[in-house]
Amino acid sequence: MTTKKTVRIAMNGVTGRMGYRQHLVRSILAIREQGGVDLGDGSVIWPEPVLVGRREHALREIARQHGLDPETDVTTDLDAVLADDSIDIYFDSQITLTREAAIKRAIAAGKHIYTEKPTATSLDGALALARLAKDAGVKHGVVQDKLFLPGLRKLKRLIDGGFFGRILSVRGEFGYWVFEGDWQPAQRPSWNYRSEDGGGIVVDMFPHWEYVLHELFGRVETVQALTATHVPQRWDEQGKPYQATADDAAYGIFQLEGGIVAQINSSWSVRVNRDELVEFQVDGTEGSAVAGLRNCRVQHRSATPKPVWNPDLPATEVFREQWQEVPDNGEFDNGFKAQWELFLRHVVLDEPYTWDLLAGARGVQLAELGLASSSDGRRLTVPELSL
Ligand SMILES: NC(=O)c1ccc[n+]([C@@H]2O[C@H](COP(=O)([O-])OP(=O)(O)OC[C@H]3O[C@@H](n4cnc5c(N)ncnc54)[C@H](O)[C@@H]3O)[C@@H](O)[C@H]2O)c1
Repeated sequence: MTTKKTVRIAMNGVTGRMGYRQHLVRSILAIREQGGVDLGDGSVIWPEPVLVGRREHALREIARQHGLDPETDVTTDLDAVLADDSIDIYFDSQITLTREAAIKRAIAAGKHIYTEKPTATSLDGALALARLAKDAGVKHGVVQDKLFLPGLRKLKRLIDGGFFGRILSVRGEFGYWVFEGDWQPAQRPSWNYRSEDGGGIVVDMFPHWEYVLHELFGRVETVQALTATHVPQRWDEQGKPYQATADDAAYGIFQLEGGIVAQINSSWSVRVNRDELVEFQVDGTEGSAVAGLRNCRVQHRSATPKPVWNPDLPATEVFREQWQEVPDNGEFDNGFKAQWELFLRHVVLDEPYTWDLLAGARGVQLAELGLASSSDGRRLTVPELSL
C-alpha cells in the first residue's frame, strides 16, 4: 500500500498561458498521472490543486476538463483559500503586476510560496518578499525552468566535465517574431508590451539570464544594455490598437565573475534563423558548444578547422557540419515539472533548495539595472544581494 503525503496547492493564475499549460497540466496534473512524487519508501507526495482566479466560469471549465471538482476545487476568493488551514502552498502565475501583493498575503497567512518570475516589479519589492518569507519561516521557490531544459543540462554536464578548459565567452540569441495583432493575432498577451502593466522583454527575460549565467558560469558582476521598442504599435486581444510602451528587444553585455564575457540578444522583433528559439554559444580554450532548448553540439580544439579569410573565394567548408551532437544519456522530463518535484520534496522532506525568493530577487535586480543601464547609457555594477 502506497502512503500518500497530500500537499494542497492554491494555484493562482491557471487560466493564463504559463499557469495552465506548464504548471497545471504539464506539472501538477502530470505528477498526479504518474502516481505522485515517488519518495522511494513506499510513500508518494500527492499534490492537490485548488484553482484560484477571477473568472469562476473559466476555472470551473478547466476543473471539469481535468477531472477536478468544479465546486470544491475552484475559488475566486483568495483570502478564503489563504485562510484555509488545509492549504500548504500558494502558487502564483498571475500577470507580474499583481504578484507581489498576493504573495505578501500568502506569506502573512503562513503558506509556503512557489511563484513564477519575475517575483516583483522592483528590486525593493522582490527583496521585501524574500525577507518576509524568511521571517515567517515559510519555504519558498521561484521558477527557473531554463536550468532544467535538456540543452542546458547537457551544457552543464560539459562544464562539470571540464570540456571547455577556461571559458572565455558566452553569446546567447533569444527571440522570435511576435505578431503585431492586426492581420494575425499576437501569440503573446498584450500586457507584455505595456510597461505600465508590468511588460517589457528586459523584465521578462533578464531574470532568466541572471540564473542561467549565475548557475552555469558565475555571478553577473556588471550589466550594459541597450533596449528598443522596435514595433511601437500593436493590436490587443480585442483587436484594438494600442501603443507599445515597453521594450521589445534588449541587447545586453554581462561581465561575469572570473572574467567571462556574456552577450545576450533578446527580441520579440526578430525572425528565427537558428535551430532553436534560444541558443547559447560557449567558447573555451579547449572547446566550444552551442546549446539550445533540447540539443547541444560541440567542437573540440583537436577538431577545430582553420578557416582563412578570403572573400574572393566561395566558402568550401560547411561549418555547422563540423560539430558533434552531445548525446542525451538519460531522460529529460518537462523542466517545469522537474523543478516542481524538487520544490515539493523541499516542502515535505526539507531537502535543500536554492532557487528561492532571494535568487528571484537577483533576477529582478538584473532587469532593473539593465533598464537603468540602457536609459543612462552606462555600464552598471551589480551589487551582491543579501537579506
Ligand atoms: N518561466 C517562463 O518561462 C515564463 C514564460 C512566460 C511568462 N512567465 C511569467 O508568468 C506570468 C504569467 O504570464 P502569462 O504569459 O501566463 O500571462 P497570461 O496573461 O497568459 O496569464 C495571466 C494570468 O493572470 C491572471 N490575472 C490576474 N490578475 C490579472 C489582471 N489584473 N489582468 C490580467 N490578468 C490577470 C489572468 O487571469 C491569467 O490567469 C508572468 O509573470 C510572466 O512573467 C514565465
